Amino acid sequence: MVPKQAARRRFLRQGMAAAMAAAMPPGLLAANGSLQPRANPNFNADVELAFVARNGLARILPQGPLTAVQTFRAQLLKGPNSVLTELPDNYLGPILHLQRGQKVRIHFRNELSEPSIMHWHGLHVPQISDGHPMYTVAGGETFVYEFEVLNRAGTSFYHSHAHNLTAEQVYRGLAGLIKVSDAEEARLDLPAGEYDIPVVIQDRRFDRQNQLRYVQGMHERMLGLMGDAVLVNGRPDAIFTVKTRAYRARVVNGSNARIYKLAWNDGSRLWAIGSDAGLLPAPVSKPYIMLAPGERVELWLDFSGRALGEELTLLSLPFSGAAPAMGGGMMGGPAQGAPLRIACFKMGERVGDSPRMPERLADFRRLTERDADNASAPLPIGLSMAPMSARINGRTFAMDKVDEFERVALGSVKKIRIFHDHARRGGMGGMGSMGMSRMLETAHPIHLHGHQFQVLSRTADHADAGAYASVKDGFIDSGWKDTVLVMPGESVDVIKPFPDYKGLFLYHCHNLEHEDLGMMRQYLVE
Ligand code: C2O
Ligand code: CU
Ligand code: CU
Repeated sequence: MVPKQAARRRFLRQGMAAAMAAAMPPGLLAANGSLQPRANPNFNADVELAFVARNGLARILPQGPLTAVQTFRAQLLKGPNSVLTELPDNYLGPILHLQRGQKVRIHFRNELSEPSIMHWHGLHVPQISDGHPMYTVAGGETFVYEFEVLNRAGTSFYHSHAHNLTAEQVYRGLAGLIKVSDAEEARLDLPAGEYDIPVVIQDRRFDRQNQLRYVQGMHERMLGLMGDAVLVNGRPDAIFTVKTRAYRARVVNGSNARIYKLAWNDGSRLWAIGSDAGLLPAPVSKPYIMLAPGERVELWLDFSGRALGEELTLLSLPFSGAAPAMGGGMMGGPAQGAPLRIACFKMGERVGDSPRMPERLADFRRLTERDADNASAPLPIGLSMAPMSARINGRTFAMDKVDEFERVALGSVKKIRIFHDHARRGGMGGMGSMGMSRMLETAHPIHLHGHQFQVLSRTADHADAGAYASVKDGFIDSGWKDTVLVMPGESVDVIKPFPDYKGLFLYHCHNLEHEDLGMMRQYLVE
């Protein structure tokens, strides 16, 4: 980096620090510690990586011109070769495979012509390494992340979290899968190697020249991007040629706004063994699984006994109620809840032997209300939409703002209630009304940074019980989570520990268009 940029960056950071000092309680800056993103010589990294974000061209559609994308590329500087696996010919970044307990240093360099920053969605890391948008760096600049992998074994993903640009940058390709392994998982002897498959689901839309088209206009932005092409691992019309045995599939919803209702075309049930960033206590069988943007589900796919050449299709079944009643004319791809094909699994080889699904998976304690210190006064996350704005507790995101109740004591365990807040008038000025707010009610996948949470309960009070019935059997709430889908009419109570890191931790809607519209706030852990 040239010294001038370094000086400018320091100036910007000090400016940011000064702005926060003015608006925030004292103590925040102490929590931030040094804002300098430099390698710490006392941090002995087991794994060291260089990541860049850059513009590129990728083969996404089978024919015609290549597609202009933004993409993460990485290089291993230190650590085992297994840390990085490239998806073949792909606009997604490489798969990052970490072990619990590893110390990781990542040098990120932004080679785009616009600001960017990386976030490790699902990993529980210190604030300065969490990719908070305050750390967004300009093109040509670098940022150094250092963290220890505290997570249990599970599936997460990294993506851009650039201030006001998250949705469009993720859409253009700035995302990749993270696997974490640990000793508890190793004892389970789950399908590994070629039998451990990534399934990153994204919807995109292309113009006639094969170029990505992003949302246009406020109406589309409020619905969130609805693509007409379903990509799996960066390509349309995914076909997996498999053996007649068990697989572990790591399914990530990496779409901006689309929710999937995953199911097999032949009606057989799905078996889940993991949710966001972790294995479940025990496998769960479901007729279908709801997977909202930011959520992950690990599936146990058992093709044992199937005939050679047989095909099974993973679908997204139709569901209703997730988009606002005012949604109106479809401008993008199929509407939220429309049926889609996700991927085809074709039996390519008969094998006699298959591992059995373990009966028990991860061993952890289920938290109850009694573990929270605020059971009778949960922290509110009240969601409201109004034309031009998406809000939490009536407010939009501000880098330097924390409400009094968003200040959380380090070491505390909080109950948090996520609900639709009809009393808010949003950004509608005098036109605001409860009726309008209800008409705009939509599904929101709510993501909390920092330590994972557990779902305590869901309450649905909706007039439109039929719509809710089309999704309600598809939630997997028995594990640790970092993102939870809150359907219209629904209120969800979660419990979240704030055990070890001070500082600012975001919470936001993972409909990325909603996030960029301001449906994001932060906790100050102090
Ligand atoms: Cu996956 Cu704050 O985001
Ligand atoms: Cu995140
Ligand atoms: Cu939302």
